[in-house]
Amino acid sequence: MLYMFHASRWQTSAVGDLAMLGSAVSRWTMLHFGVALAFFLLAQLSMVAGASFPAASLSAPMTLAIVHLLTIGWLTVLMLGALHQFIPVITAQGKVAGTSALVSLILMLIGLGAMQAGLVALDGRLPPAALAALPVGGILVLIGVAIAAASLLRTLWQARPLPFPARFVAAGLTFLFAALGMGISLGLGFSFPQWISWSGARADVLRLHLVAGLIGWFTLIAMGVSYRLLSMFTLAPEDRGPLGNAVLVLSAGGVAMTWLLGIAAVGGAPLSGAVVPIAAAATGLGVALYLVDMVRLYRARRRHKLELNTSMALPALAALALSLVFAAYLCVQGVTEAAIGALGYLFLFGWLSGLGLSQLYKIVPFLTWLERYGSVLGKQVVPRVQDLVDERRDRPWFVLYFAAVAAGTLLVALDWRALWPIAGLGQFVATLMIVRALWLVRHGMPRSSQKAAPADLAIPARPPFAT
Ligand code: HEM
Repeated sequence: MLYMFHASRWQTSAVGDLAMLGSAVSRWTMLHFGVALAFFLLAQLSMVAGASFPAASLSAPMTLAIVHLLTIGWLTVLMLGALHQFIPVITAQGKVAGTSALVSLILMLIGLGAMQAGLVALDGRLPPAALAALPVGGILVLIGVAIAAASLLRTLWQARPLPFPARFVAAGLTFLFAALGMGISLGLGFSFPQWISWSGARADVLRLHLVAGLIGWFTLIAMGVSYRLLSMFTLAPEDRGPLGNAVLVLSAGGVAMTWLLGIAAVGGAPLSGAVVPIAAAATGLGVALYLVDMVRLYRARRRHKLELNTSMALPALAALALSLVFAAYLCVQGVTEAAIGALGYLFLFGWLSGLGLSQLYKIVPFLTWLERYGSVLGKQVVPRVQDLVDERRDRPWFVLYFAAVAAGTLLVALDWRALWPIAGLGQFVATLMIVRALWLVRHGMPRSSQKAAPADLAIPARPPFAT
């Protein structure tokens, strides 16, 4: 194996990626990733220990607590951390977020902690007075998000007209506020029913919360970022042409219409029965076209041998496709708790978390490599980005992760919940081993340098840019 880069070779390969990624590294992105992964592990461990769904019902307070560890602690923190790095790159604006990214993270963590206390109080394990912590925590999360979004939106504003992937991000950030607003109002309904009583409208408000959070925020961001990352890492054309535009208009426009019509319905506006299903179908069509476009992108790639991060994005995309078909089926057949649970499970763990884990497997080495070697490129010999990971060692854990998610989804759908902890444990162990691999990227030695490198080519054990 080629284990060292000489300046000439570097110029033909890594320099292209470097120029595409941009050389400024966001200082707080790695901290976001570390915190997010810790929440992901904690949430899975709590599920395996039987603290929440599938052992408890979907609406149990402890299930709500774990769901928010996943949606805020894992996915929202992960996505904001990634956006702090990628928005300046996507928009070709050199400046990355400074201390505001740290302040935003701290506020979100305090807010999430308070929300957890409120939900535990809802379960009767803390005094009823602690229930007020639920909306208060939600407001702190909102302030933390607003600080991060202000910096991201400023960068986007300066980059008008927005490049294609950045348009998904702008739409996604808007929906994040919608999701948080709905969440806080639901929380107020739980904590102060004397002020806000949703009574009959609670189910509709919850639906708006879910549409904005799961589709508007998570899925639009995942689509935009994956367009950029997967084309970059597979060397496929970034220009997605009319199909890409159709994906954007249908998915973002459809989810906006679904949400606005839902708000109008909660406000008592008389709506024809057909309009909401049409808006929802447009969103579904947009997501389906995105999947078609992903197939095109993979087929048109110039890097034929897929790296682990791009091959493991495929089961995540398959999970999105299955979720779409499953959701359409449930629209026709009606829902049961097992079916909704299975759909949510596949969507959160298969699509969103699967894509997140697989892309972290490239982003973490890439940023680590940039931090360590960015300033000496062309001046001395450095390892390849791929030398920071060991794909042969880590591939089985990704396979176990997706296999366990598939088994877990099936067990929940069939309502064989007693068997679920076996799948849940497999998923947890696989995640733990992937996290270990990422830890080794940061704190281990590049694979090649473990061989006897010539003294003048050796990489410093603790490079000056390592954190
Ligand atoms: C990105 C942000 C968020 C996402 C993606 C999200 C997602 C979700 C999901 C998936 C559920 C359904 C859980 C279940 O039925 O088991 C839910 C319920 C709920 N969420 Fe959030 N959430 C977010 C932020 C918030 C915030 C900031 C609050 C504020 C307190 C909040 C309050 C609630 C409440 C009270 C429920 C239960 C509503 C009910 O059952 O009537 N959420 N959320």
